[in-house]
Amino acid sequence: MSEKPQSGLILGIESSCDETAAAVVRRGSDILSNVVASQIATHSPYGGVVPELASREHLRNIVPVVRAALSQAGVGFTNLDAIAVTEGPGLAGALLVGISYAKSLAFALNKPLIPVNHLEGHIHAVLLEHAQLRATQSESLELPALALVVSGGHTHLYLVQQHGESWAYRNLGRTLDDAAGEAFDKVAKLLGLGYPGGPWIDALAPHGNPGAVPFSFAQIKPKTHRKSSTMDFAGTTFFSFSGIKTAVLRYTQTHSMSAGIQQRSSRLAALPGIRPLDALPYFDQQALDLIASFQRAVVDDLRRKTFRAAEQYDVASLLVSGGVAANRELRVRFTAEAAERGLPIAFPSLTLSTDNAAMIAAAAWPKLLTKEFAGDTLTAEPALALGR
Ligand code: KG4
Ligand code: ZN
Repeated sequence: MSEKPQSGLILGIESSCDETAAAVVRRGSDILSNVVASQIATHSPYGGVVPELASREHLRNIVPVVRAALSQAGVGFTNLDAIAVTEGPGLAGALLVGISYAKSLAFALNKPLIPVNHLEGHIHAVLLEHAQLRATQSESLELPALALVVSGGHTHLYLVQQHGESWAYRNLGRTLDDAAGEAFDKVAKLLGLGYPGGPWIDALAPHGNPGAVPFSFAQIKPKTHRKSSTMDFAGTTFFSFSGIKTAVLRYTQTHSMSAGIQQRSSRLAALPGIRPLDALPYFDQQALDLIASFQRAVVDDLRRKTFRAAEQYDVASLLVSGGVAANRELRVRFTAEAAERGLPIAFPSLTLSTDNAAMIAAAAWPKLLTKEFAGDTLTAEPALALGR
């Protein structure tokens, strides 16, 4: 094993959910390749990720995806300084495919193996692009930062700090039930939209009236924390998105929308691969208003609580990452409020918002410098937490 990472080339591997991904990143910021094999077509008929099918697809995809990442980067296995892999959180069987492959590769090549927390990866999706900007425009990220990681499996707030080469995280908030992306997916499914639901709701919402259905925050605030508003005594922010899903369902029932949803659902099922905007003619105004109102309520809840935590912890900047960070209304509303408050805000590019392996390789770079390597016992950690 070489003493110093000469070229800083890290192969990242990500298989925590329904994307098999591999990327080669140099020194934590220079993306040489970023390959993602999506399983949307596999899970689409079920309206959600089926864990057994995800593992099977990862097994099928891992070798070609890694080969494509190396060939697009123009590097061979021997040029790599380390292999980085998502350790958790995620689906156990899915994680194991990436971990087993990465372990064998690291062993065969006698290279260090670096375990990465998927949530840290999402944060580094923003940090890696900031490092690129810094190189060209001397822009620096103000720390400490507050990071909102908002995806299909997670809705977390972290305080992000840097000590030397290492990054440190403190968990300041989480969801008590569904993640925000899960709410997008479940509401899309119950309204008969395509999968995954987030991009469908994002595309259709601008065609509806976001003020038409007044979803109240009381519906999405857990009873036990009502008294203390959105924070508990230790200053933790709690999110809850299962209530709004039930509220949307109840609205469709009390407004006689079920037959229309059923009809639209079977029409769209007969048009696999149809894009959300091409499906617009199948939606009546009432459905579009409901979609817009749902999105507004979720974005507002995320915005209100995130900025409140930013104020409470007096952070110097805000990072928003994860699949839901691709949402256009979220970006617009967060950016507007950040500007009003004079708080620098950063999002990853759209490709790096959703699951990818470039973020895993980027998060591994400081760990290569500080030699945070995995032993032979590395295994999947489905419930792995980040930070204190
Ligand atoms: O980060 P990600 O790819 O995987 C997880 O770690 O979960 O996030 C996927 C989630 C899905 O729930 C998907 O519906 C949501 O991100 N999503 C969006 C958008 N694009 C993806 N939600 C809202 N608006 C979008 N444009
Ligand atoms: Zn993710």
